Amino acid sequence: MNYLVKIAAVASVSVIVGAAAQAQECQVSTTDPFDLTGSDIADIYDCIGDKMVEGYSKAGDMVAKNYRNWTVTGTRHGVAGAHGNRLLLTYANDIAVEQYLKFAEDGVVMPVGARLAKESIKINKKKNAAVVGPLFLMTKLEAGASPETADWLYGGLQPNGKPMQFKQAFCHDCHVNWEDQDFMAYPLEELRVGN
Ligand code: HEC
Repeated sequence: MNYLVKIAAVASVSVIVGAAAQAQECQVSTTDPFDLTGSDIADIYDCIGDKMVEGYSKAGDMVAKNYRNWTVTGTRHGVAGAHGNRLLLTYANDIAVEQYLKFAEDGVVMPVGARLAKESIKINKKKNAAVVGPLFLMTKLEAGASPETADWLYGGLQPNGKPMQFKQAFCHDCHVNWEDQDFMAYPLEELRVGN
């Protein structure tokens, strides 16, 4: 192999490696989450959907393994602004689902054992790619278990399956805006299942 052919061979290997890395990366056409169309979001989800559950489940968490079998409450991921401009989609467990899907605005009381799991996708501007964000969780505890959070337990798993560390107040101080809805904010109106 002469010198030039060798260079060409090396160059084409790096092109292939680059393409493979890109294929894994879930490239996006725009890095502003608010500019993504429904079809952009469908493409992103096709690329990243399986990786999300794989990541969340890495430490063996049972909710991570199961939440996709719960009821999905949105027609697709939405960008609400809160939760770091991520693309968000919420699942409700069997105990939560009937009440949650009413998207009621007054006098809501969720039953004990209700669980909501909200998966998230982050647009990484440097990588020009969609990456897995945390799985956010809310669990309704027994009456009196946590008066300062209206008996909600906030939790989260990082994309590698490890628990997120934060103070309960960090989440609740914002969710308190939806007190009449038992502190649930619900998906964007146009993306609610059944709307
Ligand atoms: C700045 C405000 C804000 C903060 C802080 C916040 N949230 Fe939320 N949260 C929202 C909004 C708005 C929604 C609904 C948006 C959507 O899902 O499209 C939401 C939805 C949720 C949901 C789905 C159930 C529902 O409310 O409809 C869960 C679960 C959740 N948040 C968990 C958390 C956890 C855990 C934290 C803390 C780590 C947290 N949130 C911090 C604003 C906030």
